[in-house]
Amino acid sequence: MLSNSQDRPESVLRIQGKATLSGHVPISGAKNSTLAIMAGALLCSGSSRIRNVPAIVDVQKMIDILRAVGVKVTADRGALDIDAKNISQSHVPYDLVSQMRASFFVIGPLLARMGVARVPLPGGCAIGTRPVDLHVKGLQALGADVIIDQGIIQAYCRQSRLQGAKIYLDFPSVGATETLMMAATLAEGETVIENCAQEPEVVDLANFCRAMGAKIRGAGTKTIVIDGVPRLHSTDFGIIPDRIEAATFMVAAAITRSTITISPVIPDHLTAAIAKLEEIGAKVVQESSSRLRIEGKEKYRHTHIETLPYPGFPTDMQAQFMALLTLSEGNSTVKETVFENRLQHVAELCRMGANIKLQGNIAVINGVSSLSGAPVMATDLRASAALVLAGLAAEGETQMQGLHHLDRGYDQLETKLRNLGAKLYRQPLVSE
Ligand code: EPZ
Repeated sequence: MLSNSQDRPESVLRIQGKATLSGHVPISGAKNSTLAIMAGALLCSGSSRIRNVPAIVDVQKMIDILRAVGVKVTADRGALDIDAKNISQSHVPYDLVSQMRASFFVIGPLLARMGVARVPLPGGCAIGTRPVDLHVKGLQALGADVIIDQGIIQAYCRQSRLQGAKIYLDFPSVGATETLMMAATLAEGETVIENCAQEPEVVDLANFCRAMGAKIRGAGTKTIVIDGVPRLHSTDFGIIPDRIEAATFMVAAAITRSTITISPVIPDHLTAAIAKLEEIGAKVVQESSSRLRIEGKEKYRHTHIETLPYPGFPTDMQAQFMALLTLSEGNSTVKETVFENRLQHVAELCRMGANIKLQGNIAVINGVSSLSGAPVMATDLRASAALVLAGLAAEGETQMQGLHHLDRGYDQLETKLRNLGAKLYRQPLVSE
């Protein structure tokens, strides 16, 4: 597994523009499935094997979190063996949680297994304040007393086990759906969660829990029903392909007007991205049940994008698509409805010559004929991917800093792009 990128000296990624890509890209396991399923492994009073795990910094951080509560984790070439037989403590250290909010997902399993969980409030991040009120409200409905003391959420089971309940989520939060579904697997009785998130990663987590013996119905719909069981058993589970990595490479082909193939993918998970690419004029061909070919075109039409919970257009693809729309003809709009501050890449794209005006959470993009390479700063994970894509299409060289964002969520993005013919490489930053 990757060491935390903090150990690496800061570098700059130098990206040569006017790239032409060709060839095939292997898609790694889904980051957002892996992180939730690693937390879910805590539900099992035995050892589980998780395969097709991406080599990214966030997975390493989650390994550190699991080890911090006494769980044995061994990594072996893209597979993790997690032995959660003995969880030695229910408190997760702040310095680990503050680095990655997904570590908050352990609160449900810890509470269900131990009857108590003490997890620091995850900090906000670049894209928003990222509250966890829906997680807390749901855990209280399941019979937990929850207090927040000095930035630490302390949850205690009022009885010996959590109690099944009927829960309505004010917003179809992915994390809250996952936290509550995991907690309910070991609760007494039936839990019904209404207005759930329907993301494929929620379904993958449900399938993982079912492989451990959990009784879950309805994952992928607005209503999930869980019948609690006393304990879960070991399993061996493979993670689905990362739909956001796949869609990122689809945009890489489109923005460089190249033709590439990607696999493995699950086309049904890419419906919104495929529809929008075809709407502006790119061509997407399904070569097999798990392989797509993307043919970029010289000119693209404008379009309008609004990010929504799945199956709507994914917020995790908003920045990447915006980079592509800066080169489309006419006026496009991108409306970010899921996070309150996920448009910071606009300023950086404008530094590259894009013509984008912000009106609240709407970006109005007036297409330009070309972008120009420039020094840019990545502000968050998907913004960093968007700037790489823009750099590949621009005239001249782009130098991107803030590479730790990229390392968190993409498995060997630069190597995969170089294998397609892109010219980009890291250079240690020489302090003036
Ligand atoms: C997951 O984050 C993903 N992360 C995010 O991917 C993704 O963007 C997001 O879902 C939406 O699809 C992981 O799975 C590890 P939410 P999560 O709870 O669970 C508000 C990436 O780039 N909200 O669905 O944190 C929240 O503030 C990352 O891979 C509450 O108000 O997302 C946000 O505005 C970024 N109260 C909205 O809901 C809560 O208790 C959606 O958040 C929880 C959430």
